Amino acid sequence: MTHLADRFGSLRLEHVALGSGPTPVRRLDGLVGADVELWVKDESRFGDGGWGGNKVRKLEWIIPEAGRRRASTLFTVGGIGTHWGLACALYGAEHGLRTVLGLVDQPVDDHVREQLGRLERSGAQLHRYPDVRRLKLAAPWLIARNIRAGRLPWYLPAGGSNPVGTLGYVETALEIAGQVEAGLLPEPASVVAPIGSGGTAAGLALGFRIAGLRTRVLGAVVNDAFPLDAPVIAALANRTADLLEQRGARGVPRVTAEDLTTRDDWLGSTYGDPTPASTAMVERAAGLGLELEPVYTGKALAAVEDLGAGLAGPVLWLNTHGPR
Ligand SMILES: Cc1ncc(COP(=O)(O)O)c(C=O)c1O
Repeated sequence: MTHLADRFGSLRLEHVALGSGPTPVRRLDGLVGADVELWVKDESRFGDGGWGGNKVRKLEWIIPEAGRRRASTLFTVGGIGTHWGLACALYGAEHGLRTVLGLVDQPVDDHVREQLGRLERSGAQLHRYPDVRRLKLAAPWLIARNIRAGRLPWYLPAGGSNPVGTLGYVETALEIAGQVEAGLLPEPASVVAPIGSGGTAAGLALGFRIAGLRTRVLGAVVNDAFPLDAPVIAALANRTADLLEQRGARGVPRVTAEDLTTRDDWLGSTYGDPTPASTAMVERAAGLGLELEPVYTGKALAAVEDLGAGLAGPVLWLNTHGPR
């Protein structure tokens, strides 16, 4: 049973287990300055198909909801190195769903090149565009084409950050609350995660309110393609709270922009661009046996390093990277 079903009783929301939680939490010394009591929750270990990371958490709710909507196709968008698009293609196929991807060019490095190769081999239908404007112009045509072919597509925004996908991180916040209650870690003053499309941060913020924890979400914004400030994240959290109530939950609290902090100080020049600080963090983490990447996890850790003692209390960093 999920923590959400346990908390709210008769929820009309289905869940399919793609990974096994709870993901482990542990103290992590030597990665950032000694002025921070750093803990890690290792989301890279979530996902029984060998995948980890935050997409799997979102797909656990999205895949059954697609069935409820009688959709046979997931239509989603991302950069040409999208981890989210690949996870949709692979997990969707395992559950009888086709994936159509609208891909936008992004800075290319070895990782992005390899990722594009995986997308090409994934079985998803790929459509490439030089920029977001042209993708937006083409999207209605892509949707209409699938409908004409008798395949009802469900449009999922970049990163799967709609209210259904966001449930994955409400569930994770409740999992963290359970680990705090079990004495596996102290109640974190802050939980730190990157913000690429917002669902992870929004779900955590709502989940901590539901669980009654005082933990604040600190999101390091790593994407400049659309607004991802605290009011935007709070609005997504509250649309997720609305969804829970529409599906039978009662008394779901709401999130305000003051409940979380979002900052783009570690973004660098644009989305997908490694910074010297994020690259240094990836190298330091490798020395401790942790495999990270510089676009999300490295930037979130650079935030922890910079804010240091200002974070005032135990910090739980989510390792959202999910290598396969
Ligand atoms: C490794 C990793 N961490 C964090 C994120 C950000 O999560 P979200 O899109 O929910 O903001 C993503 C994807 O966008 C990701 O691939």
